[in-house]
Amino acid sequence: MSTNREPIGVIGTGYVGLVTAAGFAELGNEVFCVDIDSEKIEGLKNGQIPIWEPGLEELVAKHRDRLHFSTDLGDALQRARLLFVAVGTPPTYSGDADLSAVNAVVDAMPPSDQHALVMKSTVPVGTGETIKRVFAEQGKQGFRYVSCPEFLKEGSAIKDFLEPDRVVVGDDGDWAGDAVVDLYAPLNAPLVRTDIKSAEMVKLASNAFLATKISFINEIANVCEETGADVVEVAKGMGLDNRIGPKFLQAGIGFGGSCFPKDVTALKQLAGNSGYHFQLLNSVIEVNELQKRRVIAKLEKHLGRLVDKKIALLGLAFKPNTDDMREASSLVLSSRLQAAGAHVRAYDPVAEEEARKLIRGVSFKSTALDAIEGADAVVLVTEWPEFAELDLAEVKNAMAGTLLVDGRNLFEPGRVRDAGLIYEGVGRAASSAHQEV
Ligand code: UGA
Repeated sequence: MSTNREPIGVIGTGYVGLVTAAGFAELGNEVFCVDIDSEKIEGLKNGQIPIWEPGLEELVAKHRDRLHFSTDLGDALQRARLLFVAVGTPPTYSGDADLSAVNAVVDAMPPSDQHALVMKSTVPVGTGETIKRVFAEQGKQGFRYVSCPEFLKEGSAIKDFLEPDRVVVGDDGDWAGDAVVDLYAPLNAPLVRTDIKSAEMVKLASNAFLATKISFINEIANVCEETGADVVEVAKGMGLDNRIGPKFLQAGIGFGGSCFPKDVTALKQLAGNSGYHFQLLNSVIEVNELQKRRVIAKLEKHLGRLVDKKIALLGLAFKPNTDDMREASSLVLSSRLQAAGAHVRAYDPVAEEEARKLIRGVSFKSTALDAIEGADAVVLVTEWPEFAELDLAEVKNAMAGTLLVDGRNLFEPGRVRDAGLIYEGVGRAASSAHQEV
């Protein structure tokens, strides 16, 4: 890989910052990573990765010489022109994005006509414009600004960085935009170079659209349950239409994570603040909330009242290949079940530590079979590959009851029924009432 690639700074060593840093290191860039969390920085210096992301630890270790970690902005400012901003923008109570970490970065920048902030954090449309105004007010009008949103999925973030569907660069047509385009050039990805506001909107609209696609298929699934159609077959039939595509058509018990729920709400809020009522997104959010709760009705359909029933949750993370518990469906599910009087036991291959911080009253088990032992019903919450390998006859023998609620349509209904279990998927013919044993 080229040795004369320009050094860059990355501010914020969370999931987006670290993946971006490691990705650019892989492309040959020297990367100066900065974070205000000194414990995290010390850990990173010793090769400790604070998040669970497949391949990240190896990539950081591989490029130990190119990756520098510090709590001080000095080296990054001295060595790099482009400072990528990858700090958190969590939702506030009003649903707006909390930009305090972004604002702190802006305030920390010195006057300069040789630097640019490159925004990776997901921010409301108009943030770039505001930051440029603040720079001007602070006498830093020479500081350039580029919007370069990230499209990294947790669990496959390294691949998404190195093989992106597209690179979006929003800028004022100056050296900084050119430099960011050059940085991404080795990836040979389709480039959308545009104005800053449009780049900001691409990110929000992409996440909101994908979330809409999920809520749409979830509603189709719910209608399938009423009519006897199978949503897996329906999604296959729909997805082969090029205009629709097969991805993000997996019905389940709702989307979670740190992005979709936050970004859908942020876009709705942004629209509202600008005087536009974004009707569709209200429904996307509502459908998603209701979807998580439908599991309870499925359990009650077979078990009656859930008081003192033993329910096993398989998987807790918001999706497989991550330990991220933010907005995970398991959070709502475990508290609803406990509110209904059930005893909840749970197993997740990697998210237990994170889950323990957020879920109370649940008995955490160290294997799937431990969680299943003596359960009246098993609920598949996160489709970790290891659950697909479970010996269903063994599952049946371990359980006290016979109900398997498959919240992600991971199992083949026939295989589950052959093992002597009752199958309740999401939007699948096998879950209709006449299948009840
Ligand atoms: C999402 C986007 O996919 C990324 O492009 C974006 O960069 C990222 O947010 C972000 O804004 O940082 P991520 O939250 O990691 O990535 O996870 P996804 O794989 O998109 O899944 C989100 C949720 O949707 C999960 O709970 C998943 O189980 C659910 N989902 C996904 C479905 O229920 N059905 C599907 O067909 C696909």
